[in-house]
Amino acid sequence: MLQDNFGREFHYLRLSITDVCNFRCTYCLPDGYQGKPDSAFLSLDEIRRVIAAFAATGTSKIRITGGEPSIRGDLPEIIAAAKATPGIRTVALTTNGYRLPERIDRWAAAGLDALNLSIDSLDPGVFAAITGHTRLRELLDGLDRALALGIPRVKVNTVLLRGHNDGQIDRFLDWIRDLPITLRFIELMQTGDNADFFRSHHVSGEALRQRLLDAGWRPLIRGHNAGPALELHHPDYSGRIGLILPYSKDFCATCNRLRVSALGHLHLCLFSEQGIDLRHLLQEDAQRDELIAFLRDRLTDKKVSHFLHEGFSGGTRHLAMIGG
Ligand code: 5AD
Ligand code: SF4
Repeated sequence: MLQDNFGREFHYLRLSITDVCNFRCTYCLPDGYQGKPDSAFLSLDEIRRVIAAFAATGTSKIRITGGEPSIRGDLPEIIAAAKATPGIRTVALTTNGYRLPERIDRWAAAGLDALNLSIDSLDPGVFAAITGHTRLRELLDGLDRALALGIPRVKVNTVLLRGHNDGQIDRFLDWIRDLPITLRFIELMQTGDNADFFRSHHVSGEALRQRLLDAGWRPLIRGHNAGPALELHHPDYSGRIGLILPYSKDFCATCNRLRVSALGHLHLCLFSEQGIDLRHLLQEDAQRDELIAFLRDRLTDKKVSHFLHEGFSGGTRHLAMIGG
């Protein structure tokens, strides 16, 4: 098992396969994707090698992220490759849901175990204002399809945004009364590029946590491997709530994940100063042991926490760079 100097174990890899995104979320890429679209992202073979090396060290869960991962035409093959890797039990995907109804069947057939869909508002106008796309209906249809296909875990990510959705919590709660999903409220994080937006739209999730507890929501007993999210359930609701409060005390104590960017850089934290290039160790299957030794060695540099409270966001300009 990969371990750091603080006794944390890493069995969860978040792997970005492209940093291109076709949405323009106000807190992430307000002007749309600005990079070179022909950037040389990891090939399917390189992806296989990354996953195989992590799996050999005890990683059991892979999340495929972007940018927007469905931009890549070989996403079904990537899901299948992850699923076929010995040791990998869960293959998850985070997506903005673009053309989800047409795509979800292929992903399910490739072996997808868990789907996270970003929906910041249930109001079509507000949704469009946040993402730059009028595609809310399509996302909701895709979500229904994912449930109908029996994808084991379906979650919705909602970034808490002052003035956009912080007044719509009841609407979200009504929505999951009969919908067996986990709705995860994520506190907005400051990144290199969104300082002004952060100042005007950040709301602390702490008040929401208290409000949910007062309304009878109860924390689930956390498994040994649970990450930093807090999960709540309520007898009157089919859905669950997740709270991701990166500014809360001890958030990083339960960190169980590592990240690899689409360019093959290992990121020890979402907010690390820079990534560690792995690419030279991804060129042949025979390099696996060397890659594993390199990973173990670099992990000793992982810091105890992000320093977001001090307004430090490392080299992370926006989360499309590294997939959240
Ligand atoms: N703060 C919080 N969440 C963010 N996301 C993207 N940028 C930020 C940010 N600055 C979310 C997206 C998506 C997930 C991958 O990360 O909305 O749901
Ligand atoms: Fe794209 Fe996700 Fe960033 Fe929105 S938050 S612009 S969907 S990468």
